[in-house]
Amino acid sequence: MSNLLTRGRTHSCGALRHSDVGTEVVLFGWVHRRRDHGGRIFVDLRDREGLTQVVFGPDIDAATHLAGDKLRSEFCVGVVGVVIDRGDNANPNMVTGAIEVEVHTLEIFSQADTPPISIADDDRIDTGENLRLRYRYLDLRRPSLQKNFITRSKIAFVTRRTMTEQGFLELETPCMVKYTPGGARNFLVPSRLNAGTFYALAESPQIFKQLFMVAGFDKYFQITRCFRDEDLRNDRQPEFTQIDVEMSFATPELVFAAMEALIGNVWREVLGVEIALPLPRLTWAEAMGRYGCDKPDRRFGLELVDITAATRACGFRVFEAAPCVKGICVPPQHAGALSRSQLDKLTEFVKKRENGGAKGLAWARMLDDGTWQAPFAKTLSPEITATLSAAMGATPGAVMLFVADAWRTTHQVLNALRLELRDQLELVPPGTHWEFVWVTDFPMFETRDDGTLVAAHHPFTMPRADQLELLQSDPGQVLAQAYDLVLNGNEIGGGSIRIHQPEVQARIFEILGLTPEQAQQKFGFLLEAFKYGPPPHGGIALGLDRLAMLITHATSLRDVIAFPKTQKGQDLMTSCPTPADEAQLAELFIRSVPPPPTPGGSAT
Ligand code: AMO
Ligand code: AMP
Repeated sequence: MSNLLTRGRTHSCGALRHSDVGTEVVLFGWVHRRRDHGGRIFVDLRDREGLTQVVFGPDIDAATHLAGDKLRSEFCVGVVGVVIDRGDNANPNMVTGAIEVEVHTLEIFSQADTPPISIADDDRIDTGENLRLRYRYLDLRRPSLQKNFITRSKIAFVTRRTMTEQGFLELETPCMVKYTPGGARNFLVPSRLNAGTFYALAESPQIFKQLFMVAGFDKYFQITRCFRDEDLRNDRQPEFTQIDVEMSFATPELVFAAMEALIGNVWREVLGVEIALPLPRLTWAEAMGRYGCDKPDRRFGLELVDITAATRACGFRVFEAAPCVKGICVPPQHAGALSRSQLDKLTEFVKKRENGGAKGLAWARMLDDGTWQAPFAKTLSPEITATLSAAMGATPGAVMLFVADAWRTTHQVLNALRLELRDQLELVPPGTHWEFVWVTDFPMFETRDDGTLVAAHHPFTMPRADQLELLQSDPGQVLAQAYDLVLNGNEIGGGSIRIHQPEVQARIFEILGLTPEQAQQKFGFLLEAFKYGPPPHGGIALGLDRLAMLITHATSLRDVIAFPKTQKGQDLMTSCPTPADEAQLAELFIRSVPPPPTPGGSAT
């Protein structure tokens, strides 16, 4: 048994301060950097708490100095030495920079090959992400990533404590569940014991947490993994973690209060930031109207202004003919940056299909005399110009950007344009600006292109109490008791009050085009449970990964998920997924057909 392990470490590599000078310490860690200077060897020793400079010298201990000469990057070592004042050589950029440790005993626990990733160059790492994911265990050694995971752990801890203090029980639900249609696409798991049948991996614990309410657990939470076979983006992983919550006798107010307590504690304890509570709220209709989006970034202005009514007989055909005309006013202090060629580029931007595919962008610059410089200025009378300037809140020097189109296109395009202007004009200073908002009263259904209705949240969402009539007469207009929590333009949570009355649930299934038999086949167990005195209930789920991403200022979920998948759903470290061999498949009564050739010929 190693001597130093038995002796045990006395401090982490981030702990020593000037007050420790003179103490003998035992440190364990990795060789972060190593430099030779005037016969002495300086090593930055690293563990997850930080870095400490340790020194080897012939004058300190000749044999140890020789052994120290063999150290290379990422060797794992233990040292014993005495804490020394660095005096004039103190490094103010290191928390342990006032001291160094003069090493008289070294033990090399293990050596390291030259790592393919330069961990010491953390802050200016230029290694491609694929290589970093291939050697993820080395990538994770980088201090910046370590910090993200320490933060993530704190968020989870504060969550467990806060939810427990509020009377929520941490209960588990199965990952292998019955396949239920609707919502995200499921991953399927074949059942060996039940030939030819499949489990689905749970996309969320939704139905089970509702059954916990039927079971009388009153308040439930769980930090749980969810699985969704979706197209991946920077803010979407195929397996991700929810802070999942459900409560009996719930109202939206009670759900908001419980989650606001959690947000308040997480920001205070993890970031030292006091969030003003209660959090602001917007209805979905207001959010769409003012921002063109149901997850508005409210860290900056540039709100949408509706000028449809004001332009009905304005003289400009593009406006007059469109069902919805709205604009954004860029105030003079920012509009200076919008040159003619910039405006042409923005016009190209709004025409792109991914930005909504507007037919054009009508821009106007307000001049000092109040008139407009605009391609269509001549078509507008001075009165209309003045009315529109006032409606837009424009002052001389402002640039107004208008889109005239169908309601949906106008909003989608202006939302994309607003976010583009945020980035181009740098309207949000980098740093710590937290704009939370609850978005409430979502529509119950979305209308597909073929006219059929699908559940906007999920089919167990309760319509607003005052809209049960509409459910019969005009279901497409019904608003739901559904809400999202939005932070800086990101959806960090969503939930609803649930239906607990079988007749309302039956009507929803009917609207969604499910026959009673189909509803019975798919959700029969839930409908049956609701025959036995279900309490009114509701809940929410927060995306823990997204919370961690925003709190750590990461730009991708991959920086807060230890072993993430790539955009193609692959784990590059273990090379997964892999084909199954014939014997395995035979055992599962599955036959594999060769995949179609992929464009470019590569299977990865
Ligand atoms: P929802 O589908 O809105 O609601 O999910 C809740 C939150 O989970 C996060 N999230 C994701 N994070 C990373 N990768 C993904 N692929 C991903 N998908 C969702 C988001 C989202 O707001 N059962 C309901 C909740 C309820 O009604 O109580 C549900 O799952 O931050
Ligand atoms: P036109 O009359 O087509 O020459 O367009 C005059 C101006 O209006 C141009 O700057 C176009 O980019 C802009 N424009 C055209 N269609 C739209 C639209 N649907 N919404 C906003 N602006 C438009």
